[in-house]
Amino acid sequence: MAKKIITVFGATGAQGGGLVRAIANDPNGEFSVRAVTRDPNSDKAKALAAIGADVIYGDLGDAASVHNALEGAYGAFFVTFYWAHMSPGQEKAEAALFAKAAKETGIKHAIWSTLEDTRELFPIHDDRMPTLMEHYNVPHFDAKGESNQQFIDAGVPTTFLHASFYWDNFIFFGAGPKRGEDGKLALTLPIGDAKMAGIGAEDIGKCAYGIFKNGKEYIGKYVGVAGEHLTGEQMATGLSKALGEPVVYNKISPAVYRSFGFPGADDLGNMFQVYDEFEEKMNNLRDVKASKKLNPQLQNFDQWLAQNAKKIPL
Ligand SMILES: NC(=O)c1ccc[n+]([C@@H]2O[C@H](COP(=O)([O-])OP(=O)(O)OC[C@H]3O[C@@H](n4cnc5c(N)ncnc54)[C@H](OP(=O)(O)O)[C@@H]3O)[C@@H](O)[C@H]2O)c1
Repeated sequence: MAKKIITVFGATGAQGGGLVRAIANDPNGEFSVRAVTRDPNSDKAKALAAIGADVIYGDLGDAASVHNALEGAYGAFFVTFYWAHMSPGQEKAEAALFAKAAKETGIKHAIWSTLEDTRELFPIHDDRMPTLMEHYNVPHFDAKGESNQQFIDAGVPTTFLHASFYWDNFIFFGAGPKRGEDGKLALTLPIGDAKMAGIGAEDIGKCAYGIFKNGKEYIGKYVGVAGEHLTGEQMATGLSKALGEPVVYNKISPAVYRSFGFPGADDLGNMFQVYDEFEEKMNNLRDVKASKKLNPQLQNFDQWLAQNAKKIPL
């Protein structure tokens, strides 16, 4: 019997890449994978073709290519790329494009990689944190959460997947431990003593694969994924062991983090404040046991560090 095709956006990236590899590495499974990239000739795209993915061109700036990428597919993984443009308006327009194209092409199961609309947790213009871009508490969360309605209104059978903080941010996003003037390593985060949900980025796609495999059970559901919930202190302890050198947790306030001045520092400062103030709600959605059920290979922080600590730039 012909395999059911899953179209994956962001296929050369963190979330989509994990899903492409999960499907391709299960040759006896019921799905085949169509990997969407703006450049099928890039090294990353060729690496996906080499493991059996059908690599095709697609660009969110080219609506016809999005439509084309979905033609004949059973399922689709939709992720947007907020940090490439930092525009909530663009992110919402891209989500609307996904929802419309999914409806028109008859997608049977979509996974929309979303995040909380934090304005449902507390109103904007609440004075506990600055309102950003006039309309948002945490722009890169709120725009995704607001976009859930696009999929609902279009009548697309959708699972609303909520990723956690990628531990890979310690490698690629400049969020890892830094050496102070005293030469000592410190992990600087504004999450107080809260436990924050984290995950190895590769595991997000593996969990998404579990969602597709158990299709009906997850359509219409809000699903969070996490490998472990950890305090800053616990992350610093894990890093110390893995790096063979002490790392201290430098607990700062969200206001100080927002003042760091790099692009998006205010957005991330607000995000960490939400992880701290709404610890229970954020973590309840991102259940580790349920994530492990979707992805039996799910890594906790120590397991992720065993494979990745050497890549953290110090
Ligand atoms: N970092 C975190 O801790 C975290 C946690 C939760 C959620 N998120 C969210 O994750 C999202 C990003 O996902 P990711 O980390 O998987 O992304 P990523 O690793 O940065 O990869 C993005 C991929 O998407 C493709 N892409 C970029 N712009 C495109 C466009 N206009 N049209 C088509 N493809 C495009 C690129 O592939 P080609 O160059 O091959 O086209 C790129 O490889 C963000 O919206 C972020 O808010 C991040």
